Amino acid sequence: MSISSACSTIALSKFIQALPKAELHVHIEGTLEPELLFALAQRNKITLPYSSVQALRKAYAFDDLQSFLDLYYAGAAVLLTENDFYDMTMAYLHRAHADGVIHAEIMFDPQTHTERGVAIATVFAGIARALREMRKATGMSSYLLLSFLRHLSEAAAFATLESALPLRDTYQDLWIGIGLDSAEDGNPPEKFTRVFARCKELGFRLVAHAGEEGPASYVTSALDQLRVERIDHGVRSEEDPALMQRLIQQQIPLTVCPLSNVKLKVVTDLSQHNLAHFLRAGVLVTINSDDPAYFGGYIADNYLACAQALNLSNDELVTLARNSIQASFLPSDRKYTLLHSVQA
Ligand code: HPA
Ligand code: ZN
Repeated sequence: MSISSACSTIALSKFIQALPKAELHVHIEGTLEPELLFALAQRNKITLPYSSVQALRKAYAFDDLQSFLDLYYAGAAVLLTENDFYDMTMAYLHRAHADGVIHAEIMFDPQTHTERGVAIATVFAGIARALREMRKATGMSSYLLLSFLRHLSEAAAFATLESALPLRDTYQDLWIGIGLDSAEDGNPPEKFTRVFARCKELGFRLVAHAGEEGPASYVTSALDQLRVERIDHGVRSEEDPALMQRLIQQQIPLTVCPLSNVKLKVVTDLSQHNLAHFLRAGVLVTINSDDPAYFGGYIADNYLACAQALNLSNDELVTLARNSIQASFLPSDRKYTLLHSVQA
């Protein structure tokens, strides 16, 4: 790299970090860095099948979504106590704050933990303590999206919902929504129609992963059957022109995760990513990190990599930051204040 291109990369990084932005698609379990994973394993006397942090990091080479999920669920096994969830969440919040995140909507997968015997109350308590402390210390706001694992049954999702509902009052400032994640292939949105209808009745905001590895028809059924307000990923929507028109007309947000899409081979190369097409066509797209500990970058890294690979202008980066606030579940008065701060 020449000195002038290094200087322009530094200037672009600073511009991106200074943009107030919301992160709307991040799995808290996917923020567990190998160093902390090793430290928690030691604290909890768990033996890992890797000799070192470096050996674990080296294993983060994926062929597809499933090969990632296998490692991601295995890694989450070091999380046992409230303090473990607190430490993981705090580490993410510090990284996000440094990247200019002023609001985060964070997914967590209770079933990954309750299946191992960890109480759902422990999961909530550790994550929420970190979110509230960070809000107090920096003003950064956050919400929680409890996500169902789609490779499990709808009955299991109902049971998870029932076990979480007694905690709703305690976490009413944080737990505002429901998501759907894990292996898309063979697990279409309509598998969860009844549980999502129940969640809607209860007043939760709804999102679902769709159109990451699964076809565009999964995006349509997430919208029509699950009645979600926002689509996580959705990059395969482009295969259906009528769906594209709908996304644009109804301004349905997509939470795109570019570095994740490269690592999971959803796209061959970042220069081939359709994010810029979506943006220029008028889709309400946003940039997010998904599982930053596994995919090689937090939110600002995602913005920077896209700016460089897709030749995004500074105005387009501002639009992406504005979109992230627009697409959030924040009340309209706070959205308005934050949109003004982006423009400034
Ligand atoms: N897709 C589906 N499920 C997930 C992901 C993802 O990218 N990350 C964590 N769980
Ligand atoms: Zn995701």
